[in-house]
Amino acid sequence: MVSLKTSLCGIELDNPLIPASGTFGFGYEFAEIYDINILGSFSFKGTTKDPRFGNPTPRIAECERGLINSVGLQNPGVDKVIENELPKLKKCFFKPVMANVSGFSVEEYVHTCKMLDSEPQIGWFEVNVSCPNVHGGGMSFGTSPEAAAEVVRAVKAVTTKPVIVKLSPNVTDIVAIAKACEAAGADGISLINTLLGMKIDLKSKKPVIANKMGGFSGPAIKPVAIRMVYQVYEAVNIPIVGGGGISTAEDVIEMMLAGACAVEVGAANLVDPYACKNIIEDLPRVMEKYGIKNLSDIIGGAH
Ligand code: SIN
Repeated sequence: MVSLKTSLCGIELDNPLIPASGTFGFGYEFAEIYDINILGSFSFKGTTKDPRFGNPTPRIAECERGLINSVGLQNPGVDKVIENELPKLKKCFFKPVMANVSGFSVEEYVHTCKMLDSEPQIGWFEVNVSCPNVHGGGMSFGTSPEAAAEVVRAVKAVTTKPVIVKLSPNVTDIVAIAKACEAAGADGISLINTLLGMKIDLKSKKPVIANKMGGFSGPAIKPVAIRMVYQVYEAVNIPIVGGGGISTAEDVIEMMLAGACAVEVGAANLVDPYACKNIIEDLPRVMEKYGIKNLSDIIGGAH
């Protein structure tokens, strides 16, 4: 018998699988096709203070070994999330959930986290300072150690829950940003978000995505994600949620060896809605193949 259990900021997870924000809605959409309580947890759709219609279409472009998205943080806004989405989630998911929060100013992050803080089902905040698809917010906070730290500090002051900060890979020194967030009081680091990418259509000779550029994700980015998780694990003493191109049980093990205690699956959910279920079911077989009894024993094992 193998054990898939792990823990994240003091909360025990049945397994490390966490569908990434933006690829799993508010959970209840997927609960129509399988019991989502098999998941470790999931990170719900990125939520902002005000409702957002998102970017013009086309917003998605398929690429080799991945896809580009430029959704633009479409969401109904925090008031409607609390009023409409979380009550539906509560009926089908009985574990702590991760609240993914974005903003266009420090005050907006603070407002949204404050509003969500009293929601009992929220186990952690995943503060997204890494969305590449919006101007004047998102990634602009996550590409500077000082700006990322300022968001963390401000959010920590208004919440009682663990604050995990989701970092952008579109930087030269990921370690400096992770360390600044840890020093500002972050309880965990989540990485990586998408890599800024572009695809040009040969017929129209124009970018495929209406917003021209977008975030590239999928199996092609996994080596970048593994490298960054490995580097950050060496530099900080807080837990890491690793993600980026994860689509198999083998990938989960590789990510945990790099240093992740929980693993996010993103683009794979868009290709196959059963991706997380399949990975969870396959993990015991792959663990046995590699002589792993307890998944939590391998965290950071590659160091
Ligand atoms: C989006 O809504 O554009 C994607 C969110 C993200 O990459 O953080």
